[in-house]
Amino acid sequence: MKVYRSISSLTKKIQEIKKQGKAIGLVPTMGFLHEGHMSLIRRARKDTDCVIVSIFVNPAQFGPKEDFRKYPRDMKKDLELCEKEAADIIFAPEAREMYPEGFATYVKVERITDTLCGASRPGHFRGVATVVAKLFNITMPDIAYFGQKDGQQAAVIRRMAKDLDMPVKIKVEPIVREKDGLAMSSRNVYLNPEERVQALCIYKSLKLAQRLFNKGERDSKEIIKRMSQLINENRKADIDYVSIVDTEELRDMKRISGQAMVTVAVRIGNTRLIDNIILN
Ligand code: PAF
Repeated sequence: MKVYRSISSLTKKIQEIKKQGKAIGLVPTMGFLHEGHMSLIRRARKDTDCVIVSIFVNPAQFGPKEDFRKYPRDMKKDLELCEKEAADIIFAPEAREMYPEGFATYVKVERITDTLCGASRPGHFRGVATVVAKLFNITMPDIAYFGQKDGQQAAVIRRMAKDLDMPVKIKVEPIVREKDGLAMSSRNVYLNPEERVQALCIYKSLKLAQRLFNKGERDSKEIIKRMSQLINENRKADIDYVSIVDTEELRDMKRISGQAMVTVAVRIGNTRLIDNIILN
């Protein structure tokens, strides 16, 4: 496994790999890796010949009042974990390598970035789309892997790749959860013990949605009401949104038909957590 910090040295390597006709799998991450990321790396290892993991806390996707500075980082442990999963290449650039002086070009996916997390985090998806487009250009992957936990992000990246004819297949892998159901996230480390317990209301509310759906409930308003009641029983929980949307255009569904994503963003204390389930 080799760590690359500069775009130019990685570009040379990528040209070699391409000449050899090897398939490249890219797992873009912001580091502080957990089992969710590991599942993506394992998937890439199975599917492709050369697995690249990017580790880059992307300043462009954080708002001015967000947690860019305190976002958890542990490069040493990340490298150990990648080595264990037999990744071939780590791309870990500095911010000035990705955004040198004079940088002025951004990718903005419209419409589907206006709702859900896009509404409460203006500019977030512009930062995500821009960095992911850059990572695609730098690493030229055949397949890129993302987690379903960031359901809107997955939809945005699919849209971008399709609209801009990017020659990459996007694979979205299932959410990996702690034993008690909390979706794995690098931000879980912010939770104190009381908040960690209360954070479970997020998964419980999604399970409630699944139960109501299984019993035949199709009225989104009713399901959202019941989920919100459950979450609001926790004094540390502050709902950003509870929504039921279609999985591609992310439009609110009044009545559930076809594939629907039940998606939730809740602040537990100061920590904003997201989670979702797909109802079929
Ligand atoms: O999901 C993430 O960790 C980030 O948004 C991503 C895709 C690596 C872009 O910075």
